[in-house]
Order: sequence, then structure tokens, then C-alpha cells
Amino acid sequence: LPNQRPQCRLASVKIVVLGDAGVGKTALLHRLVHSGFHGDGIYRATIGSDLLMKRLVLNCGAEVTLQLWDTAGQERFRSLNRAYFRGADGCVLVFDLTSTASLASLTHWRQEFDSERSGFESAAALPPLLLLGNKADLPTGSRAVSGRCVAAWRSAQQLPSDAERYFECSAKTGLNVEAAFRHLAAACLSRR
Ligand code: GTP
Ligand code: MG
Repeated sequence: LPNQRPQCRLASVKIVVLGDAGVGKTALLHRLVHSGFHGDGIYRATIGSDLLMKRLVLNCGAEVTLQLWDTAGQERFRSLNRAYFRGADGCVLVFDLTSTASLASLTHWRQEFDSERSGFESAAALPPLLLLGNKADLPTGSRAVSGRCVAAWRSAQQLPSDAERYFECSAKTGLNVEAAFRHLAAACLSRR
């Protein structure tokens, strides 16, 4: 029933996680699902994609299972990603706060995601997006992306404000990771 409130049912939402190689997509999902971090200096590129599940009970009482698709940032594996964009209820765009190029790339990642969703008529109908600036634990001196850069990127995307939310986060410390995914899950459910 279209008017049924989200509190009243179990829901499953499909979320794809996108962004350049090395921004920390896999680390963020590992933090969310397994509450851990593999440590600095260890990088294993995702090949193809991986599926992780996370169950959350939202503040409104709704129980939701997140189907999280961790995709490959490396160019040579990207062609495999598009198949996972279809039917997504939400999208997480990740950049690395120490890399301006990784934020700029999100324009491309968003276009890739949207191009699989041409059935939507307006930006308002796009699934909710979560923008994550990762590696917030690194010293301020190594920060390359200012709040102003992020604001400029967001306004250039011309997204309705309720369609997109920004968090600075850290897969290493866990800062904002669960909070961000909770926000996205609630936004996905409210669209139904
Ligand atoms: P691809 O699978 O190639 O697309 O990369 P990815 O986005 O999944 O990156 P991954 O999660 O593998 O992380 C890349 C490197 O960044 C690893 O060495 C991680 O340990 C490190 N890293 C990830 N998140 C953080 C973080 O929040 N803080 C710090 N300091 N390092 C991080
Ligand atoms: Mg990965």
C-alpha cells in the first residue's frame, strides 16, 4: 500500500558505493558491517564487486536490511560496475579528503550512476545520494579538500537538498560511518 508507514514493515534497500580507487569504499563498509579496520598501508583493490549486508533498526522503529554493493574504483575493473546500478534505492559517493581529484571524479561517477536510471524524469526522482568525505582522521595538514570545495561541487550537481547529504567520516576511527548510512537508509525508505 502506498500510504503504509515505513515503521510497519521489514524492508530491504539496495545501495551502491562508488568512487575512485583507494578512497576507502571497502574500508567504510568493513567498518559498518564488521566494526573493524584493517590498518594503514594495506590496500587490496576490489575486483568486480562485493555484496555485504547490514541490518539496522532506525530511530523511527523501522527495521531495514541494507544490501551494500562495494564496487571497484580501478579503471580496468569499472566496466563490471554498471550492472549493479540498476534497481538501486540509494547511492553512496565517496571521496578522500586528502585528494581533490577524488572529489572531482564524483561528477563522472554520478553521471555513470544516473545514466543507468534514465527512466527517472526529474532530479527529484533520483534515489537519495550520500556524499562521504573519508579519511577525516588524517592530520589537518594533509587535507586537500576544503569545505568550500565540497560546497562548490554540491551546488554544481544541482541536486535537491533532500536528495543528498554530506558527512565527513573515517573508516579508521568509525567517525560518522553508521550515522551516515542510517541517514541514507531512512531517506531511501521515505521515498517508497
Ligand atoms: P578500490 O577497491 O580499488 O576501489 O579502493 P577502495 O575505495 O575500496 O579503498 P580501500 O577501502 O581499499 O582503502 C584504500 C586504502 O586507504 C587502504 O590502505 C585503507 O587502509 C586506507 N583507508 C581507508 N579508509 C581510511 C580512513 O578512514 N583513514 C585512513 N587513514 N586510511 C583509510
Ligand atoms: Mg575496494
